[in-house]
Amino acid sequence: MPEYNPKIVGFLCNWCGYAGADLAGTSRLSYPTNIRIIRVMCSGRVEPVFILNAFENGADGVLVAGCHPGDCHYRSGNQHAEKRIDKTKKLLDLLGIGSDRLRLEWISAAEGEKFASVIKDFTEKLRSKGPSQIGKEAHLVPLQPNEVESVHDLLKRTKALYCQECGKCSSSCPITRLDPAYSPRLAVEKALMGLEDTVLTDKGLWSCLTCYLCRQRCPLDIEYDELIRSCRAKAATKGIFGKCSHEGVLHSLSRLMANPKTKQNRLGWIPQEAEIAKNYMLETELRQLYLLVEQFLAYAEFQIERKNVMYMKDWVSYLDNMLQTNKLKILASKGKISHKEMEKIVRKEIAKFNSKNKRLKT
Ligand code: SF4
Ligand code: SF4
Ligand code: FES
Repeated sequence: MPEYNPKIVGFLCNWCGYAGADLAGTSRLSYPTNIRIIRVMCSGRVEPVFILNAFENGADGVLVAGCHPGDCHYRSGNQHAEKRIDKTKKLLDLLGIGSDRLRLEWISAAEGEKFASVIKDFTEKLRSKGPSQIGKEAHLVPLQPNEVESVHDLLKRTKALYCQECGKCSSSCPITRLDPAYSPRLAVEKALMGLEDTVLTDKGLWSCLTCYLCRQRCPLDIEYDELIRSCRAKAATKGIFGKCSHEGVLHSLSRLMANPKTKQNRLGWIPQEAEIAKNYMLETELRQLYLLVEQFLAYAEFQIERKNVMYMKDWVSYLDNMLQTNKLKILASKGKISHKEMEKIVRKEIAKFNSKNKRLKT
């Protein structure tokens, strides 16, 4: 059986990691050839979506190599990279891909040997883990041009043919509020005028949130959101795609989560010793509680009959006695932590939260 060769995608910083790889090559050092190198100007350029995309497209491991701390040519790019990689690792664990499939290394231009040994070591580790479960798979099958309706049919189906150009859609659109150049009314008008190419290439086609607000306001119930969705499908058949926000990281994440081969580990962050609290009552427990309450109420009624004066301490002591007579424990888990200690913990947590919030705001 041929030896399994894991596929590694390497994002190497131009100034250090890439130069290190270059040196390994010119020094004729041998290392596994299963790495595909992508040169980036700085490790800080590597966004989580690059890594997710690599896994989505069949990578078994991803290596990010940058300059040693303090040597980054853009001062703090590698520090950003470190934070991002940490967060991406957590994401990979939740996705069930495994954080150990992602590796961050500092490799200088003079460290050809280190580069070669990192690749050897990473390859070995990935080999022992086996191939990534994701594998390369086509998730989206683009529609063919003959599978989508003509713009005229779309206008008919979505009732846009009857648009009165009242502008209610534009006045309620949250995108128009931010970008006055975007107007659903205008888009419908262009489509009605037969300017198909203008509609399909307009960046507004991809700005729409398909939030349904315009449709709610439209007096003719024109299905603008549906018109937009269908126009997008039509644009895609012509090779026109919108630019996803945040480089499409959310889309990539959704695709990875929806991949049938993904075995998510979403609860992996819960400590093993954690127990599930029972916050419901079984039928038998409810019946027993009912009987206890009945006993207590009977006692209370009896005291009223006898016109006995009762104070709170009397009720408490009766309740304790009643529970003990019924062989029940009184507040079994009380006293694990004092009020003072709890207050201290809560105050500490609030201070932590506030300082984190402050940092986010600055
Ligand atoms: S609200 Fe309806 S009728 Fe009015 S302009 Fe918009 S799509 Fe046309
Ligand atoms: S569906 Fe699109 S055009 Fe209509 S209100 Fe929402 S963002 Fe605006
Ligand atoms: S320039 Fe190399 S990590 Fe920033």
